[in-house]
Amino acid sequence: MGNPAKKRVTAPAVRAMKGAQRIGMITAYDFPSAKIADGAGSDIILVGDSLGMVVLGYPDTLSVTVDDMIHHTRAVVRGVTNALVVGDMPYLSYHVSVEESVRNAGRFIQAGAQAVKIEGGKPTRIRTIEAILDAEIPVMGHIGLTPQSVNTLGGFKLQGKNVDDARRLIDEAIAIEQAGCFSLVLECVPTELAQLITEKISIPTIGIGAGLHCDGQVLVFHDLLGLYDAHTPKFVRRYATIGAEMKSAIETYLSDVREGRFPNDAESFHMGTTEDVKRLYGDAVVVPMPRAN
Ligand code: KIV
Repeated sequence: MGNPAKKRVTAPAVRAMKGAQRIGMITAYDFPSAKIADGAGSDIILVGDSLGMVVLGYPDTLSVTVDDMIHHTRAVVRGVTNALVVGDMPYLSYHVSVEESVRNAGRFIQAGAQAVKIEGGKPTRIRTIEAILDAEIPVMGHIGLTPQSVNTLGGFKLQGKNVDDARRLIDEAIAIEQAGCFSLVLECVPTELAQLITEKISIPTIGIGAGLHCDGQVLVFHDLLGLYDAHTPKFVRRYATIGAEMKSAIETYLSDVREGRFPNDAESFHMGTTEDVKRLYGDAVVVPMPRAN
């Protein structure tokens, strides 16, 4: 659980962390993961559309809907006391029209998120970001490997490797900063490019697969804890193998059930007196009265 005595992190507070303190961000998708991430002291908790892969079992994030995201955002919000909660706008929720994008962004705020994240920095996207900001909704940008563009990018690949591509990403970062975003995720770009962008813009950069020079870092909850092994990108550092521990606990439980070791007497309830048991079974049957709790 978070610390009720500590101040809630806000979007302007995150912006002010640039140059003052490194930002620690993690994803969460439900009440218990949010409570754990918040209690550990995360600055930002992202309800990422990565939930499509790590929670819902899709091969990518494209099938995730606004309704899916709102459902999970509400659960996360209930588990957070201190961190800034950012809702990740899923594919097609900000691609059709500016008006629809603002309405969808507003749904995240009404679900309790304090900001939204949007992928991409091309001119049409900047206009959408500006309209959402105009509706008083803080926006976190996201460029580099933007998973919702997996089909146009041709796969989950490093971005900004050549000079032209790197220049385009620098321009997008500047446009996102000038539009008024409070922070920017840089995903899967070379360290040198992430450093340059971090030095060039006044809002904090938050890296994932973008090297050490960003203003903060983000990892997916399930990757960090070893709960998802379908694919582990090179940039993930595993801090635990919780998935293996969970499996072993369930195996032990199943063997206890099958061998009659679970539940034991202390895990069971008993009738009040031996007389009650006798009345239930009849005097003819000798029922051993188990030890009382
Ligand atoms: O969906 C997500 O989890 C993300 C982070 C990896 C930045 O977008």
